[in-house]
Amino acid sequence: MKEKPVVVGITGASGAVYAERMLQFLSAARIPTHVVISRAGALVIEEELGKKINSESPDVSVLGADPEIVKAYSIWDLAAPIASGTFQARGMVIIPASTGTLGAMASGIADNLIRRAGEVMLKEGRKLVLVLRETPLNLIHLENCVTLARAGATILPASPGFYHGVTKLDDIVNFILTKALDQLGIDSKLIQRWGQD
Ligand SMILES: Cc1cc2nc3c(=O)[nH]c(=O)nc-3n(C[C@H](O)[C@H](O)[C@H](O)COP(=O)(O)O)c2cc1C
Repeated sequence: MKEKPVVVGITGASGAVYAERMLQFLSAARIPTHVVISRAGALVIEEELGKKINSESPDVSVLGADPEIVKAYSIWDLAAPIASGTFQARGMVIIPASTGTLGAMASGIADNLIRRAGEVMLKEGRKLVLVLRETPLNLIHLENCVTLARAGATILPASPGFYHGVTKLDDIVNFILTKALDQLGIDSKLIQRWGQD
């Protein structure tokens, strides 16, 4: 059987570079990927990366990904394959994940394709990883994290370690990518693992 696709959601938290590198990695590794970008996600991409992308008709080549491998959907396309539990996916990573998306999902609100695909992962017992980026967190954020973790999601704060020989931004980005990809069972070999060759 062909490899099950990975679903990627990109929301409007800071850290667009994580999303860009994630798509580039999956593309280069030729792992079939389905991506959705929120409107705020597109805004942050423009602000932080200086790249224009439309959340309603995203061209992933703008982010250096191969459109043959990385299929993009409109944020409003609630009839996309990934909106259904019958679609077989390896799991989903929301990177970066905003507290807005965290809150909507913790409340069961599925009014865009990222939120719907995320709730599908949970109801089907598949892996859902939120690479959450906000600091500090208020009590509502913390309670939403607990709610989603109880429902089966992995809350993976964009909180890099510095013990793997960090000398440049790439090392920090690769640390977060490695942690997220590990959750999906993908060994990216992007960083030197502690105590391993
Ligand atoms: C430049 C910029 C940076 C932002 N950074 C964050 C952030 O780090 N974390 C966060 O939770 N929201 C952040 N926001 C706010 C979210 O984009 C906003 O709450 C939005 O409604 C989230 O919508 P979405 O989850 O559908 O993408 C940022 C907004 C902008 C414009």
